[in-house]
Amino acid sequence: MGKTIKTVGIIGFNVMGAAIGLNAATAGYQVIYKELNDELVAAMYDRWVTKALAARVAKGKMSQNDMELIAGRISGTANYQELAPCDLVIEAAVEKMDLKIQVFKELDAVCRPDAILASNTSTFLIEKLMAGVSNPGRTAGLHYFFPANINRLVEVIRQKETDDETYAALMAFSEKNRKVPISVNDFPGFAINPVFISTYMVLNSFYDKSCNAATLDHISKAVLGVKYGIIWVLNGSGLGTAYHAAASMNEYLGTTDVGFPPVPNQLKTLFESGKSFDLEDGPISEDGAVITKVKESLLGSIFCIATHLIEKKVVTIKDLELGICTALTWPKGPFAMMNDLGMAETARLVSSAVESGYFKMPKTFAAGVPQPWDL
Ligand SMILES: NC(=O)c1ccc[n+]([C@@H]2O[C@H](COP(=O)([O-])OP(=O)(O)OC[C@H]3O[C@@H](n4cnc5c(N)ncnc54)[C@H](O)[C@@H]3O)[C@@H](O)[C@H]2O)c1
Repeated sequence: MGKTIKTVGIIGFNVMGAAIGLNAATAGYQVIYKELNDELVAAMYDRWVTKALAARVAKGKMSQNDMELIAGRISGTANYQELAPCDLVIEAAVEKMDLKIQVFKELDAVCRPDAILASNTSTFLIEKLMAGVSNPGRTAGLHYFFPANINRLVEVIRQKETDDETYAALMAFSEKNRKVPISVNDFPGFAINPVFISTYMVLNSFYDKSCNAATLDHISKAVLGVKYGIIWVLNGSGLGTAYHAAASMNEYLGTTDVGFPPVPNQLKTLFESGKSFDLEDGPISEDGAVITKVKESLLGSIFCIATHLIEKKVVTIKDLELGICTALTWPKGPFAMMNDLGMAETARLVSSAVESGYFKMPKTFAAGVPQPWDL
């Protein structure tokens, strides 16, 4: 008999936690939000539940009856004890390792021994966050993507202790939430962020040297086939977040057999000066050699990291393709791109990315030109 989830606790009632909980309440789950104090609980409830649902009703996107049903499933507290009835608790507190470890100790003390404990961390290994939890088989990662009310991807992250029952319950929970879950093993940044973060690091490394922001954004759109360029997306998410994520990924992987691009000084300087990229900073370059260099560097690095993730068994080819297309809205995933380009040309770009110092050589390409990927 599998685990049944009816009541969901959410730690942290801000941007991510609020959206994750509202999504669950809309899908029929009872939701209990936990914040630091009663004032925050009331303020966040007003902002993320009362006003957000009223706005949907006003726009004709939700009926008054549905709003009342959903709001009726939601409560808030500043007290861990009130999370005792939860079948699942999703932690979405601030991104600080010590704080998260402490949260899981508190949850361990008040929740049932079989209650599932999951973290929405973006950067920390699930294994480390859960080291102090009893029955670690019931722990996992549940990684949503911003904006979590719109982005449908969820990475269900298994650490080495996660048991099958917990994994199956989280996959079913995600599906009932009308999300697209993919299965990922515990790894720095999990599966999607290593691809996305290395892509913008490589792109940013060309800023100023030979290209303005308008050119880089244009190239990213052309190479990936996306509507919104990578520079535009970075401006939206904030350069501070982008810089810190880049620095931690390089710290985790830079010296391993995977490797990771160096943190571009351009990103650091821009973030420290409190600015964003100016997307109208001049004409788009028409220098063919420069455009080819940026394009090939981007593709080569995407192919390297995607291959490393498969070789390390972090994710399957199918799930990485699905995840990239869903979370990042790229029309094609890295493996379809490699097959389309042809493996000889792919191998040339991989070698060039390795020579540029972005990544170590993936085993698949070490012996020469491999067969196309089996999609
Ligand atoms: N924002 C994103 O784009 C994004 C995307 C994916 C994952 N995440 C991850 O989700 C988590 C939350 O992100 P966010 O952007 O909502 O963070 P945030 O900093 O905006 O909000 C965190 C909330 O947690 C509360 N909090 C802190 N300690 C708490 C405690 N002990 N008990 C209860 N509440 C507590 C804070 O008061 C705050 O309201 C982070 O781990 C982040 O890395 C964020």
